[in-house]
Amino acid sequence: MCGIIGVTGRPSAVDDILAGLRRLEYRGYDSSGVVAVLEDGLGVVKRSGKLDRLDAALATAPLAAATGIGHTRWATHGAPTDANAHPHLDPAGRVAVVHNGIIENYRALRDDLAGAAFTSDTDTEVVAHLVARELDGPDGVDLLEAVRRVSGRLEGAYALCVVSADEPDTIVVARRQAPLIVAAVDGVGLCASDVAALIEHTDTCAALLDGQLARIRPDGYTVVDADGTAAAADEFTVDWDLSSAEKQGYEHFMLKEIHEQPVAVAETLLGRDDGAGNVTLDELRIDPSELARIDKVFILAAGTSLHAGMAGKLAIEHWAGVPVEVEVASEFRYRDPIVTDRTLVIAISQSGETTDTIAAAEHARAQGAPVIAISNVVGSTLARAADGVLYTRAGPEIAVASTKAFTTQIVACLVLALHLAQRKERLFASEARDVLDRLDTLPALVQRVVADDTAVLAAAERFKDVGYTMFIGRHGGLPIAYEGALKLKEVSYLHAEAFPAGEMKHGPIALIEPGSLVVAVAHDGHVFAKMVSNIQEVRARGASVLAVATASSRDALAEHADVVLTVPDAPHELAAPLLTVLPLQLYAYHVAVLRGADVDQPRNLAKTVTVE
Ligand code: F6R
Repeated sequence: MCGIIGVTGRPSAVDDILAGLRRLEYRGYDSSGVVAVLEDGLGVVKRSGKLDRLDAALATAPLAAATGIGHTRWATHGAPTDANAHPHLDPAGRVAVVHNGIIENYRALRDDLAGAAFTSDTDTEVVAHLVARELDGPDGVDLLEAVRRVSGRLEGAYALCVVSADEPDTIVVARRQAPLIVAAVDGVGLCASDVAALIEHTDTCAALLDGQLARIRPDGYTVVDADGTAAAADEFTVDWDLSSAEKQGYEHFMLKEIHEQPVAVAETLLGRDDGAGNVTLDELRIDPSELARIDKVFILAAGTSLHAGMAGKLAIEHWAGVPVEVEVASEFRYRDPIVTDRTLVIAISQSGETTDTIAAAEHARAQGAPVIAISNVVGSTLARAADGVLYTRAGPEIAVASTKAFTTQIVACLVLALHLAQRKERLFASEARDVLDRLDTLPALVQRVVADDTAVLAAAERFKDVGYTMFIGRHGGLPIAYEGALKLKEVSYLHAEAFPAGEMKHGPIALIEPGSLVVAVAHDGHVFAKMVSNIQEVRARGASVLAVATASSRDALAEHADVVLTVPDAPHELAAPLLTVLPLQLYAYHVAVLRGADVDQPRNLAKTVTVE
């Protein structure tokens, strides 16, 4: 979750580090810090709070050095204080470490260092102590070897970045279950937890694999495996540029990303058939006959990606005729899921770095299930670990609240459902082509919705102070009810919960009283009439109703709802969620802005959850 960057070989490495941290701030933003390797030792500045505080501190006490590392934190161990901010140093101030992840055995390691004085509550500080001890040891090892030896003693997940005053132009990084990339360009060595931090320097990076370490110097980097033997760097090219990672005139990344959805959806749909009507994935390392045998699908994901999976389930069951279970990734591996080599696991993750989702996918794979990843990040850990990948080509998603990732994940699920249906010989090429042609109309429809948010803004102004909002839906409206509630609570901090509309009478309707607000997702289709009944039930008990309708359901809803937000009819009922979610993304955004909330960096959250 934390962001890491290291730079060596620039006249003012700290400026580059700060610029990189700005791009990584979405990974965590409760404190930040830098260490620069100065001529007379290490210079450290760190501050609790947003990056601006670090920036201000560095403006008054600049650190001029060619080598340094920086960190933006999402606290796991220890409150977000100055003392707990990274970097952490050994007692002599000779070794500095920044870390993303959790060192699970840090207490035992601390106990082994009996008598050592610790200045923070973090799990990270122990690493600096241990590396310093290795450097001081009888073998006279260098920094890479010292970090390698210490890594072997660590349990848990980590991306570590280490500098030492003894090797002024060297940065050493180590990775286990947390992303780390390295790069070298024109006499500058770089490393970061995310390409966003390096994109202004280069589009060619290498991802470290689990257990690997790298030594980075201005003239390049070397990668070694956990046993110290040299390894080939796994290079890849980043296919987006700096402008995609900037706000481009929008007030917030969330709004910018909502508006990027027409293009993101179009890109994700691009070239999905081979010209003969066969639906294709981006990478497939599974024999097609294996997919034909699939008799069960698990969709594993977290948060917004899970909601996209719920919409995906409907499509897979409809077209491919295979039973699908959608499960929170963090639950899956701690029970005894029945998985065979005929079970397909679809792991959905925007970042491709969510620990729970990766671990759940690996758990299923170990039991013989093929895994297909839906990810937005080329070369992400999940994408690499899977047997097949379908990329959502949404471009970098910076806002913590996910929007364009969600709609493109639904597109990916629809495409994958068609692919599976073809492998199972349930869909002729001409039928798949027909569905894809219809889906190709989606970008223009999405554009129509996001281009005019007047009605949504008016609704946000009217309901912005309602403390509890209940979202309801059925069939394709249900994932959107869940997603609408999640968006609202994330960015506005208002209490919001979603329920299947049919469940209301089994309990939740007891919460309804005059003044309650119910958001009902009611697109036209086979459950529409039932939604209208559910809306009438809550309205009869005094709730205000904000309905999301499609053009064909609008008139029938008008007399039952206080406000109706209308989107165009979807080209296929299974694609309706992709449109009905849009007003709810905009609604959450406007409510948050009206309430003065920090839209792009909501409290307590981080974009990529790389801890359990
Ligand atoms: C919500 C949100 C999160 C993520 C979740 C999974 O707006 O962004 O709920 O969807 O943390 O992240 P990924 O998709 O990267 O695995």
